[in-house]
Amino acid sequence: MFDYLIVGAGLAGSTLAERLASEKNAKVLVVDRRSHVAGNAYDCYDDSGVLVHRYGAHLFHTNDREVYLYLSQFTDWHHYIHRVLSWVDGQQLPFPINLDTLNQLYGLSLTEETMKLFLDERAEAQEIKNSENVIVGQVGKELYEKFFANYTRKQWGLSAAELEPEVCARIPVRFNRDSRYFTDVYQGMPKQGYSRMIERMLQHPNIKLMLQTDFTEIRHLIPYKQLIYTGPIDEYFNYAYGRLPYRSLRFEFETLAQESFQPACVVNYPNEFDFTRILEMKHATGQKCEVTTIVREYPVAEGEPYYPVPAKKNRELYQRYAEEAAKMDKVYFVGRLAQYRYLNMDQVVREALDLFARLRSQDITRRI
Ligand code: FDA
Repeated sequence: MFDYLIVGAGLAGSTLAERLASEKNAKVLVVDRRSHVAGNAYDCYDDSGVLVHRYGAHLFHTNDREVYLYLSQFTDWHHYIHRVLSWVDGQQLPFPINLDTLNQLYGLSLTEETMKLFLDERAEAQEIKNSENVIVGQVGKELYEKFFANYTRKQWGLSAAELEPEVCARIPVRFNRDSRYFTDVYQGMPKQGYSRMIERMLQHPNIKLMLQTDFTEIRHLIPYKQLIYTGPIDEYFNYAYGRLPYRSLRFEFETLAQESFQPACVVNYPNEFDFTRILEMKHATGQKCEVTTIVREYPVAEGEPYYPVPAKKNRELYQRYAEEAAKMDKVYFVGRLAQYRYLNMDQVVREALDLFARLRSQDITRRI
């Protein structure tokens, strides 16, 4: 009998499998319905030999030293600082908006001080009820229209005025020339990729891995003592209260016979096109080769569950499932799908490490 059945070989499931097997000598079975490990962080070499991310660009960044050190046991890091450009009025401009963005866009030579005055004149003070209020309150209507309005509408299928303030509040405005997308202390990419890192996490004699296996197929066949579930929480409860809505993405991959296509890993296209952005992972992975693969991202309503739709009614629906989950004995829900939250990779690893600490302390209490 397995001590733990873990559903999902993404970062949440793999972190728990590794910790339980290594630290508690537990016998663990990990199942995933996909044909590969690493969940959405999965990367692989495409037919042209370019390392690509199948489920969207994954850039690692964290301020959590313990998480960084934990993952560093399974990978070396390629040093990479993520930067994003935004195609606005025929120019590729630094994003989030900073001093250089405004100077290039308007042909000005603002300083840190005068940028503040420039934006003060444009920002429209307002009560913050939605994401549009957040941005217009910071930079005014014109910059909102140029950088945010259409991007947000494409991304969510909703206008910024229909989205909760938190969605756009995450994006800062910088009164200096700092063009980093993330400001976290630790930033980089696993040197041989995420899949390799996660394969190493799962390489423990106590861990058995079954791919292309759905939990529902084996839940009554394979004996186990405790369950860790990282799949969609509504699916676990057979959609008893209805489906939790997600926004999805369609990826259009294209390999080009040239070394590089664009000057940064991500270029946003807020306005002219149906896609929201073009990714070129070579900038992030540091891979050197004569060809490159780019990916156009098209937000869509149906498909793989990517982004929980940030609306009050969805949070309330999730809450009903969370209440059911809390009543369960020896079943633990962790990860982005089980918690119906957009979580970065470091947050998922943090939650998995915290759950492991709780499981270990329960065990110690039981023995006492
Ligand atoms: P994840 O989805 O990775 O794994 C869950 C696994 O469970 C899947 O493999 C699934 O197949 C399996 N599963 C589900 N139900 C099952 C069932 N019934 N039976 C068997 N298996 C089942 N974060 C970050 O830090 N930097 C970044 O740049 C990005 N970029 C990014 C881009 C996009 C487009 C998205 C949507 C997300 C990001 N993220 C990110 C977030 C990142 O993807 C996320 O933090 C982790 O993938 C979460 O890991 P989990 O293990 O929770 O889920």
